[in-house]
Amino acid sequence: MKALILVGGFGTRLRPLTFSCPKPCVEFANKPIVCHQIEALVKAGVTEVILAINYQPETMRESIERYCEEYGVSIVCSQETSPMGTAGPLALARELLTKDNPEGCFFVLNSDVICEYPFEEMYEFHKSHGKEGTIVVFPVDDPSKYGVVVSNEQKEVVSFVEKPKKFISNKINAGIYLLSNSVLDRIPLKPTSIERETFPLMAEDGQLCSLTLKSFWMDIGQPRDFLTGMELYLESLAQKSPESLNKGEGYLGNVLVDPSAEIEEGCLIGPNVTIAANCKVAAGTRIANSCILEGTTIAGNSWINGSIIGWKNKVGRWVRIESLSVLGEDVHVKDEVCLNGIIVLPHKEIKESELVQGKIVL
Ligand code: GDD
Ligand code: MG
Repeated sequence: MKALILVGGFGTRLRPLTFSCPKPCVEFANKPIVCHQIEALVKAGVTEVILAINYQPETMRESIERYCEEYGVSIVCSQETSPMGTAGPLALARELLTKDNPEGCFFVLNSDVICEYPFEEMYEFHKSHGKEGTIVVFPVDDPSKYGVVVSNEQKEVVSFVEKPKKFISNKINAGIYLLSNSVLDRIPLKPTSIERETFPLMAEDGQLCSLTLKSFWMDIGQPRDFLTGMELYLESLAQKSPESLNKGEGYLGNVLVDPSAEIEEGCLIGPNVTIAANCKVAAGTRIANSCILEGTTIAGNSWINGSIIGWKNKVGRWVRIESLSVLGEDVHVKDEVCLNGIIVLPHKEIKESELVQGKIVL
């Protein structure tokens, strides 16, 4: 079985992290987001994953190579010379998708969606309805920033509208599809949007069926959603494999700390925290609802809440970082500084407090 992952967007909404690393490779719960997807695809029997790449192919390869070896899956890159949108890359990869494909269908994923991926259920459903496409849908309170799907009782999609201005349904496109090879005949070899061009026509032709996701779901392409997705993911881990989380003195709620990270005594970490490899957290530090990326050191007695701290940061003593602050790679925060809802670009030194939420430190 084959799968194609759309890894080509510029990830602008996840800046400043995506200044250092393409969005699919930003570590979510200590592993590149795209690796969560590849791991689940492999479990469902996928043996070849095609990465539809549009920029930074080398960085992408480097950061996922060691995981691919671990999963024993073949990864092929399909490189665009200019952005082909969300359907064009399928036309470009036509040969790769259809060659040696006895199932006659393939999975397609947006690279920034996290959930308990229902690949096996999708395959069964796709075979049972016999239409050209299966799309996973998920109910949300505010559908306006997503593709919205209206289905009938037979689960056939009757209408697909990308980012509608008016409310039409609360079921949104979860960015996970299973498509028969024949869908490729619907996509021209040029920049094309699967959401605006391909799906509306498939819906009109009665060739798209929807499967409602039963697990949590989140598009983690924006800082706030990244942290919400992390909370949901950690809760799902707590249910499915509680042994993978850190428990005991100094930990509160769901916390995932890489084994190579050093946490000194007298810290309180959690709930909803991930701490990546080679981080050092000194005594007396309090961290909640936050993601700390690889190689960061935090000196003692700091307070970090609801924030993302990028790679190789150096956070001083008695520092306070909160309210959705996002620090890029290699940021140095001096002792006693307070950051409240501040975005800091990579390689900056912060000597003074910044309290105006939404400020970008260039
Ligand atoms: N290869 C390639 N080339 N990939 C691309 C390109 C491109 O030109 N443009 C976007 N992508 C990839 C992105 O990397 C991402 O994985 C996916 O296509 C979707 O792009 P986003 O920019 O994340 O779209 P969105 O979040 O606004 O909306 C999409 O996802 C929602 C669910 O999260 C749509 O599919 C919505 O319908 C959907 O509800
Ligand atoms: Mg997205």
